[in-house]
Amino acid sequence: MSLLQVVRMGDPVLRQIAVPVEDTTDPTIGALADSMIETMVAAPGVGLAAPQVGRSLRLIVMRLIADRSAAAEAPAPDRMIALINPELEVLDVERELGWEGCLSVPELRGVVPRAARIGYRGWLPNGKRMEGVAEGFQARILQHEVDHLDGYLYLDRMDGFGTLGYGREIQAAAERGSDARR
Ligand code: NI
Repeated sequence: MSLLQVVRMGDPVLRQIAVPVEDTTDPTIGALADSMIETMVAAPGVGLAAPQVGRSLRLIVMRLIADRSAAAEAPAPDRMIALINPELEVLDVERELGWEGCLSVPELRGVVPRAARIGYRGWLPNGKRMEGVAEGFQARILQHEVDHLDGYLYLDRMDGFGTLGYGREIQAAAERGSDARR
């Protein structure tokens, strides 16, 4: 395993539609997933998609995490998964607003509407099928990462750029009790 370089907005690979993984048990895919998990943890981040490491493949890694507040804690090894050829299904038309950032768009944060509840399915690198239902923050991570496979960044999903700002300033404003949203 090794740390991978994360590409940033402006690199065309982030705007391509990634191709499906043909052999989900290919050990090179498993090795790539392991390196992506290591890179995500080091960043630190809660999810990473293969195009973000310059590979236009339908592969994501993410933390299994109850809510945003747990993101500051170090992840247990069994609470991180790779999902190959993931597919999502919106189960609830209700949209929730929440803050997002992206390792390919460093330092910035913005409020993004996302489906509150989704079904997901895909393959694990061991060849097993995985499917489930995700809500809230986990559903948000999945939508953000699968968007990367279709060439979208979270900025494309914002209703407007009124909330867009640098994470440090947004955090400082929150601690002061003020809110830049309008
Ligand atoms: Ni991202």
